[in-house]
Amino acid sequence: MSEELPAPPDIAREVFTGEAWDRARAFAEILAGPGVVRGLLGPREVPRIWDRHLLNCAVVAEAVPEDVRLVDIGSGAGLPGLVLAIVRPDIRVTLLEPLLRRTVFLEESVEALKLDNVEVLRGRAEELAGKREFDVASARAVAPLDRLLKWAMPLLREGGELIAMKGERAAEELAEADAQLKAGGARTAELVTVGHGKVEPPATLVRVVAGRTPERGRRRRRR
Ligand SMILES: C[S@@+](CC[C@H](N)C(=O)[O-])C[C@H]1O[C@@H](n2cnc3c(N)ncnc32)[C@H](O)[C@@H]1O
Repeated sequence: MSEELPAPPDIAREVFTGEAWDRARAFAEILAGPGVVRGLLGPREVPRIWDRHLLNCAVVAEAVPEDVRLVDIGSGAGLPGLVLAIVRPDIRVTLLEPLLRRTVFLEESVEALKLDNVEVLRGRAEELAGKREFDVASARAVAPLDRLLKWAMPLLREGGELIAMKGERAAEELAEADAQLKAGGARTAELVTVGHGKVEPPATLVRVVAGRTPERGRRRRRR
């Protein structure tokens, strides 16, 4: 049986301002309707669409610098990438997703929401290395941090940032990824919390700043 989409909580009006408000409500309907019917979101998630999905993803914008090119790795139903595009019209967002069923849903959502700052790209992160470069990579529920680093760092410019939504295990994953952080040439890696007073608990992110990877260094010296 399908669950009912709840009314947006009051805080949503403060998070989704201006044109973002109508788009956020429209996206909530899309997720609760076609998103569930096509199996991109479990029916039990419908009552939690506002707090667990839309708001939790929107507050990640606090960690995203202005005017950046952002790639959302493993975007699924557009979380967090499509929500970030809604709240931040200044950024250009690439939703990267390998599964056709999901990219079709994403393309239809982008069109329905009339977003002109989003591109949908079908593919795997590791296939994009060396072909495209971004300022920020975001990801939620895609892979453990060490694997995510392998996929994300080659997509980032030097000084670019991986922002991984990690929740409760963030500190553990950061410690476990130590070797990969060094191998990938990370400049800094830290835990950041966002959404204080907006989501409960605040969202925990791992932010990794890309340095010059050994791979990039080798490529440059060969020229
Ligand atoms: C559990 S879902 C999470 C979706 C969304 N980020 C969310 O939080 O709801 C993981 C997504 O990562 C995608 N994925 C898996 N391997 C990938 C890869 N190598 N590159 C990019 N995306 C990948 C899957 O197709 C799937 O849509």
